Amino acid sequence: MSRKPQRKNPYSKPDRFTRAAKEEGYKARSVFKLTETDKRFGVFRPGQAVVDLGCFPGSWSQYVLQRIGSRGTLVGVDLERPQLPGTWITRSVLEVTPEELRQALGRPADVVLSDMAPRTVGVPFTDHVRQLELVRVALHLATQVLAPGGAFFVKVFDGEEVPAFQDELRRWFGKTRRVRPEAVRQQSREFFVLATEFAPLPPVADPAPAEGSVDDA
Ligand SMILES: C[S@@+](CC[C@H](N)C(=O)[O-])C[C@H]1O[C@@H](n2cnc3c(N)ncnc32)[C@H](O)[C@@H]1O
Repeated sequence: MSRKPQRKNPYSKPDRFTRAAKEEGYKARSVFKLTETDKRFGVFRPGQAVVDLGCFPGSWSQYVLQRIGSRGTLVGVDLERPQLPGTWITRSVLEVTPEELRQALGRPADVVLSDMAPRTVGVPFTDHVRQLELVRVALHLATQVLAPGGAFFVKVFDGEEVPAFQDELRRWFGKTRRVRPEAVRQQSREFFVLATEFAPLPPVADPAPAEGSVDDA
């Protein structure tokens, strides 16, 4: 009986980033998406407080810990726990509260990262919609834990909901940049957004009672 030829997974093919990650002791090649962005835009500084959403297996966290040094603090969230020393919340991001992140950090965050992606099914629209759900959760958490002036770096699967998401981002951040680092595979629909200059929205004030109004309750 003849076997159907197996389609090769283009995402698992080792390339120069895979080799470099191995040589430099990083857990994944995706670290180079973050290092390139940091080199171009200067995201990290010593002493910062950073949240890493979707942190497993841990290459972004490894890099961030080097950059923020011993005065910095990092909290990672994922369904799986990285095999690295650190502060990890091992649960779905859907079950993590802003309060929990604030407590784990001990102070407002300077940077929130999200490299989260669901298990893909290979149907671009479905994968896009599911990934955008995670992106929106990441944005909600970021807006609740970031210090004014903070930054948000997030992976996005391209698709029709992206313009609405970008409008949402612009409500909260002074500057947003679309970034596609070299380490993103050519055939991938992913890109990143670096949003900086976080400006929390002022709390909505109770409307003042109109002058001379009478409460008839
Ligand atoms: C591309 S990997 C992240 C790689 C990581 N940035 C690194 O450099 O090692 C995407 C991660 O998103 C995580 N993820 C997917 N859905 C999640 C959810 N609901 N809550 C938390 N993490 C989730 C996956 O478990 C996976 O580890």
